[in-house]
Amino acid sequence: MLAAATAPTRPHVADSGGSGGLDTHQKWQHTGGGAGSGGGAATDDSSEAITVVDAAGRAVLPGFVDSHTHLVFAGDRSAEFEARMAGRRYEAGGIRSTVAATRAASDDELRARLAGFVDELLAQGTTTFEVKSGYGLTVADEERAVRLAREVTPEVTFLGAHVVPAEYAEDPDAYVDLVVGPMLEACAPHARWIDVFCETGAFTPEQSRRVLEAGAARGLGVRVHGNQLGPGGGVRLAVALDAASVDHCTHLDDADVAALAGSSTVATLLPGVEFSTREPYPDARRLLDAGVTVALASDCNPGSSFTSSLPLCIAVAVRDMGMTVDEAVWAATAGGAAALRRTDVGVIRPGARADLVLLDAPSVTHLAYRPGVPLIAGVWKDGTRRA
Ligand code: NIG
Ligand code: FE
Repeated sequence: MLAAATAPTRPHVADSGGSGGLDTHQKWQHTGGGAGSGGGAATDDSSEAITVVDAAGRAVLPGFVDSHTHLVFAGDRSAEFEARMAGRRYEAGGIRSTVAATRAASDDELRARLAGFVDELLAQGTTTFEVKSGYGLTVADEERAVRLAREVTPEVTFLGAHVVPAEYAEDPDAYVDLVVGPMLEACAPHARWIDVFCETGAFTPEQSRRVLEAGAARGLGVRVHGNQLGPGGGVRLAVALDAASVDHCTHLDDADVAALAGSSTVATLLPGVEFSTREPYPDARRLLDAGVTVALASDCNPGSSFTSSLPLCIAVAVRDMGMTVDEAVWAATAGGAAALRRTDVGVIRPGARADLVLLDAPSVTHLAYRPGVPLIAGVWKDGTRRA
């Protein structure tokens, strides 16, 4: 596989103007060894070929790692977005309209849409991404979602416990029985992770624990959607179960922050959600000052956050969440990798995957300084140019 020839002193940010910058004629060369990934296969043709890339004074950074997306879906919820901009609050129940559209779609429709999102991610510098199920909510539809997701990424998450589907509205515990039984059995072979939406209007902490423990017993890693719409037990449950990540973390009390600080659970913040629900942003500064590992992810989904842009998330995190540029870029690269318990991505160092982004800018500061401007000049995944 391809890897950077030299390790920058700021391993997460290679900035052409700084001490950790790549030389204009930085070489990317074959190192031969595997990277010990948690996921997909490395490419290694064992040739001695060296590709010389002239960055011409522009910044190079690791490919972004988006540890939270929901990309297997059909339908459109732009009307719901417009209603929110006119003053309506976001509610978990909107998920059910995407469930109906997704169930009605063919495999090929879902596959084509997913392929479009993969291109969209790469064009914006994301070289590793997680994809969740959660818009099927039957055994067959959830199995289909994780199977299609597995065609595009090894980081697949079974989220059968996204919301209680309408047909189980009168008996949510019967739906949990289905999730921990036949649905998990059908989905686990395609998945690396299990997730649950632990929130008022979705699943209680007790139901969430059942789902996560069943997944862990089946060999899946644990992740949690928690504390998005209000305070609750999601963060503490995630820490108790040594989840790789608890995502959203918008409404935290001091005990939540202390629990995260004393754990190896990453707090993954999703600024696209508050951007498109017009809720207050999570307080990244409070978490960082307490010593919590923070990741940034897109949460790309048709309801609460229909953006796949980590540059946008970085810009918002710097402007409105108290993060420095370096912290935000780290959170969208190495932080995302930590949230996926990966060490082979999100960093530029010998032996890591050559997943690299070249910016049409002299420093990574421009990601926040020039919001909305397409600054991605080149993207390499496993050493191969992809955009
Ligand atoms: O992460 N919070 C739960 N699930 C998604 C929203 C999904 C939807 O609204 O369709 C989220 O924000
Ligand atoms: Fe989500």
